[in-house]
Amino acid sequence: MSIPVTVLGATGLVGQVFCERLASHPLFQIETLVAGPESAGIPYGEAVRWKRPGTVPRSLAGLRLAAPPERLPTAIAFSSLSPEASAALEAPYADAGAWVFTNAATHRMDPDVPLVVPEVNGDHLPQALAQDRAGAIVANPNCTTVGLALALAPLRPRFGVQGVRVVSLQARSGAGLIHGEFMELEDDLHPEIPGEAAKMAQELPKILGAWSSGQRLQPAELDIRATCMRVPVTHGHTLCVDVTLSAPATAAELHDAWAKFDGLAGERALPSTPRPLIHVDQGLAAPRPRPHRDRGDGLAISVGGLSPLDTEGRQWRFVTLSHNLVRGAAGGAILTAEAAHRRGLLPGTP
Ligand SMILES: NC(=O)c1ccc[n+]([C@@H]2O[C@H](COP(=O)([O-])OP(=O)(O)OC[C@H]3O[C@@H](n4cnc5c(N)ncnc54)[C@H](OP(=O)(O)O)[C@@H]3O)[C@@H](O)[C@H]2O)c1
Repeated sequence: MSIPVTVLGATGLVGQVFCERLASHPLFQIETLVAGPESAGIPYGEAVRWKRPGTVPRSLAGLRLAAPPERLPTAIAFSSLSPEASAALEAPYADAGAWVFTNAATHRMDPDVPLVVPEVNGDHLPQALAQDRAGAIVANPNCTTVGLALALAPLRPRFGVQGVRVVSLQARSGAGLIHGEFMELEDDLHPEIPGEAAKMAQELPKILGAWSSGQRLQPAELDIRATCMRVPVTHGHTLCVDVTLSAPATAAELHDAWAKFDGLAGERALPSTPRPLIHVDQGLAAPRPRPHRDRGDGLAISVGGLSPLDTEGRQWRFVTLSHNLVRGAAGGAILTAEAAHRRGLLPGTP
């Protein structure tokens, strides 16, 4: 089966990962690529500053870029638009009937917009049907929040999570392309990424919250404080997490909870599902961005560096790593669209 889709923001870093992954996807097939008006009419392979391994997918290189159309030609769109373009375009497209799976922050906290990490809260997806629109917007969380949500999800049902303190070490590619290149950062770091810590504190309770049909979402009660730094790594966000559990746990029990986690029943074995979902690294030397960010084709996360912070087993420190462009953006959004398809939510598809 091939469901035609549009990629909005196809020339950006996240858009390139959409193109890379959708060029050979079993469900979705790219019909239209959209970027800024200056690139309209130019073949994708000429307009894009390709930053992915290898070359532009052959099937897409000759496809001419479109400027944002009045109305989308397909019922499904993946968006990696800049924040400004997202604010101008996504809601009108959804109002006109499209399902827009977006990576931009614009609509993440809108009450009826599901904010989805499929294995954690794919059951929130039908919330999109409550939107007062002919179509819907479904949002991907901030790239840093995705990894933390996946690392905490296995611990909550067994031990309860009361609070987290997190320091993130975020890759340069998280800042997008700047004049066609990665952000410059060498032998230095940026100690605070503006707005990032606040996004994490808002988004995590929404993702981990409870939702059922006809009800308002109940955010999870969680004390979260974050410091978000930019570091000279190309791809892969590393988080140093101090977690306080409600019930005591041993290191073996925590490792076991992560290793066995494969997510919500409805979201297992989707076309892009990684196996395993969480790689558990024993000891303190891993995970690290370069050797470990591509695990599970970039969709798995890694957890390691576990050490106790008290003698009762309630406070622990660990490190988690995820690929910001794949699990934290395009790959995650495609997985979410696969989950929406599995749940029969996508318009005009069997
Ligand atoms: N980078 C990450 O790790 C990451 C992770 C999660 C979420 N996000 C979010 O995902 C979105 C894309 O991020 P990115 O890193 O890929 O950014 P990027 O490299 O700056 O790409 C932005 C894209 O938006 C397009 N665009 C800008 N203005 C437009 C307009 N008026 N009409 C149509 N298209 C327009 C650009 O096209 P032109 O090339 O023609 O200008 C480009 O394709 C952002 O909202 C970002 O916050 C990024």
